[in-house]
Amino acid sequence: MPDAHAGGPLEPSTFVVFGATGDLSRRKLLPALYELYQDGRTAHGCAILGVARDTQLDDVAFRDLVRGAVAGQAAGAAELDAWLERWVYYQAVPTGDVEDFQAVRTRIGEVEERLELPQNRVFYLALPPAAFAPTARMLAKVGLNESPGWTRIVIEKPFGRDLETARRLNGMLHECFAETQIYRIDHYLGKETVQNLLVFRFANDMFETLWNRDHIDHIKITVAEELGVEGRAGYYERAGALRDMVQSHLTQLVALIAMDVPSAIQADAIRAEKLKVLRSIKPIGADDLVLGQYTAGVVDGKPVLGYREEPGVAPDSRTETSVALRLHVENWRWAGVPFFLRTGKRMPKRLTEIVITFRRAPVWMFRMVQSEEIHRNALVLTLQPNEGFCLYFDVKAPGEPFRVRQLPLHFRYDEAFEALPEAYHTLLMDVLRGDQTLFVSADEVEASWALYTPVFSMDEPVLPYPAGTWGPEDAEKLEPR
Ligand code: BG6
Repeated sequence: MPDAHAGGPLEPSTFVVFGATGDLSRRKLLPALYELYQDGRTAHGCAILGVARDTQLDDVAFRDLVRGAVAGQAAGAAELDAWLERWVYYQAVPTGDVEDFQAVRTRIGEVEERLELPQNRVFYLALPPAAFAPTARMLAKVGLNESPGWTRIVIEKPFGRDLETARRLNGMLHECFAETQIYRIDHYLGKETVQNLLVFRFANDMFETLWNRDHIDHIKITVAEELGVEGRAGYYERAGALRDMVQSHLTQLVALIAMDVPSAIQADAIRAEKLKVLRSIKPIGADDLVLGQYTAGVVDGKPVLGYREEPGVAPDSRTETSVALRLHVENWRWAGVPFFLRTGKRMPKRLTEIVITFRRAPVWMFRMVQSEEIHRNALVLTLQPNEGFCLYFDVKAPGEPFRVRQLPLHFRYDEAFEALPEAYHTLLMDVLRGDQTLFVSADEVEASWALYTPVFSMDEPVLPYPAGTWGPEDAEKLEPR
């Protein structure tokens, strides 16, 4: 077997994309698959079979669609044409019935035979959530859930909309596929800076030894977006920020920040530690939560609509577009250290950062300076944009009088490395090499829904905030002094 972890080519396979004509496929999946080819990672062969309802498309028309999606990355037209001609195919599934799936099966067989590929298959469900279960079931019905090689299925988010639906979806998937075959995407885990949290914490003795309630005062995680609902009202109206961002991305960040040392950088070991964190979080109370919804305002100097005026949004919608939340991880390491989570659409800028604020030093010896001049050390991990970190510490300002100033020590990725890979590039590569570390397990997804499901029935008020601000003012009450 090729040594994929060493950066060598991956095993040959067929990558079947359901929803191949959709937005996710065009913007993320097809460009990532082409990039893996360009990097030589799929040099042993990776056929792409696009599957969608559209009966007007055939191989040739689908190749044109793929050309449009990846043209910007191509080294030259001839190279791109050669890749499309050899590796890219299309199969229509107009009704989604069993005959359609038999046709998919036959087509996979033909492609494998033509390209002399072993029966290693990925089924990527870039589909609306309602289609996950029926598609998985149909795959099993026509025998595509197993093969003499390996078979993997990739499920996009959202994975359920509460604990019950997530359990049902897990139960149904497990009837057709083993957990080791299931890859649940949370694209935040594919971000290089998110993966770096493990190295940062566990490869640096100076941080890990301080990473507990004895030294840390509180932790703040912000995932702010400038964008609004961007034409996705149909989905977002039923989701809201709690389901869309908090249950998945922010909760995964909490787990990575709070977990104990895993026994190895391996899926089982890391998932087990993350799960312990998720199960240690105290039930959320009404006073731990502030929900908001943006009204008309100004973002990046331009006037923007309020959420209720966006196309497809109900004029009296109560869907939250921002969440501020305080979580308590009640375990030995973290008891008494609040985790503040904040996310929202139409905030002043795009920013994902984690701020670890350490306890204040016992400063009596500096009694000649005003005590408020002694700051807490803070570690700011910026996950996007301007990826890097800053460690803030106090120094004596030179000269008289005796003054203390807080200054940062910087690290920026773009000063040390080439451009960071796209999350989907990393995640698709991991699917192809069978590494589940960056994917969410059934237990994790259920533990996370178990935490948030009671919140959905709390009927908390949704407070307005003008677009271009950091959310309702009440959210500040949750934060530490
Ligand atoms: C998606 C959410 O999962 O993440 C979107 O559905 C959100 O609403 C997006 O905009 C944010 O991702 P990123 O990578 O731009 O931070």
